[in-house]
Amino acid sequence: MGGLTLSALQRQLAHVRAHPEIRWIDGIENVPVWPGRHPLTGRLSAARYAARYEDPRGEPLLIDAVLQRERDRGKSVEGSGVCITHGGLAGLGLVFRHLRSSGLRTLICQMPMLSSIHLLAVSAGLSVRGVGSDEFLDYMANDASRDAALYLCSPHNPTGAVWDEAEIKTLMSGRADNFRLVVDGVYDSFVFGERPCFGYLEDPRIFYIDSMSKSYGSPGLRVGWVVGAPDEVDRLVVRNEFENIAVGGLNQELARRLLEHGNVALIDRVVDGRRQVIRWWSRLNAAGAAEGQLSVDGGTQACVPLPVGLDVELLSHRLLTDFHLVLVSSANYHNVPGAAPFLRVPLGCDPQRLCQILEALEPAIVSQYGDSRLTLM
Ligand SMILES: Cc1ncc(COP(=O)(O)O)c(C=O)c1O
Repeated sequence: MGGLTLSALQRQLAHVRAHPEIRWIDGIENVPVWPGRHPLTGRLSAARYAARYEDPRGEPLLIDAVLQRERDRGKSVEGSGVCITHGGLAGLGLVFRHLRSSGLRTLICQMPMLSSIHLLAVSAGLSVRGVGSDEFLDYMANDASRDAALYLCSPHNPTGAVWDEAEIKTLMSGRADNFRLVVDGVYDSFVFGERPCFGYLEDPRIFYIDSMSKSYGSPGLRVGWVVGAPDEVDRLVVRNEFENIAVGGLNQELARRLLEHGNVALIDRVVDGRRQVIRWWSRLNAAGAAEGQLSVDGGTQACVPLPVGLDVELLSHRLLTDFHLVLVSSANYHNVPGAAPFLRVPLGCDPQRLCQILEALEPAIVSQYGDSRLTLM
């Protein structure tokens, strides 16, 4: 894996922490923020949950709520198994290690992908074959590997691209029984295009990963789940027991309450933020101050395209030092060589904060598409 270093984001955050005197404009997180108070306000007996281990599979009431959420979204989950995990990333880690220990060696991944997920797959012993989004379908149509699994994120982080059910069926058709598809659905409450997002599909070769972090604005709960074929999920449960024992009951109960409460207000906030960012980008485009398509079909961020060849780490550093703006960039993603860099703008933050982010970002974007580009040359 080579030497582990701090991510580009952590290096930015170290700079922020070193300068507490500055009023930073924080645009880092793509976790949407509930308008008003977070809906988890009820009373709970923490002591009751603190004093015991839960079932490694997860609390039956939470599992029912997870399955009900899928049914409410028109998805078929009859006969599926569920394993509750410590969030989506932990679910991905469980599945990657399970796949590797089942003899699988190669994971085909749609690029760009979050660097931490790339590292997770590599550290599970999988060899990652990255394929750019543009050539992905062609690649899969011609790929003859029988010993590979596929990781897809839909809606995609950061591009927001959404896979629908027909595309997934095409992707899976003709593939061997031992082929596996790992779908990362942690943004699946946020789909804005015409096409419905692929949810869980009753195909025993699919693992569907989801969590409370983005769709319910609650990453601190560290609760997520994997839905899949019952026998495959049983093997994940065994692994979950020896790796983690179980997710804490208190957090599972809070997750259950939140699923029951629903997330309409959170989705509305992201919809409003998306409208605001699209207006901003259209204005810059109309003035000839920016180029390219803004990707916002799904997810909780806009992927703002930057000119090819631009040094995005240098730009991020200038955003920090000159505009006091902290944003995630393509430096935090694994991508195919030569891919265009981008900045990630959160859609679900407080509207005033979003205004500040866009105002601070605008001069930097304008200068990138003007004469004074920050190139590597
Ligand atoms: C694509 C993707 N998958 C998974 C996760 C993990 O989310 P969590 O572990 O908080 O559920 C994230 C978080 O940023 C993500 O962007």
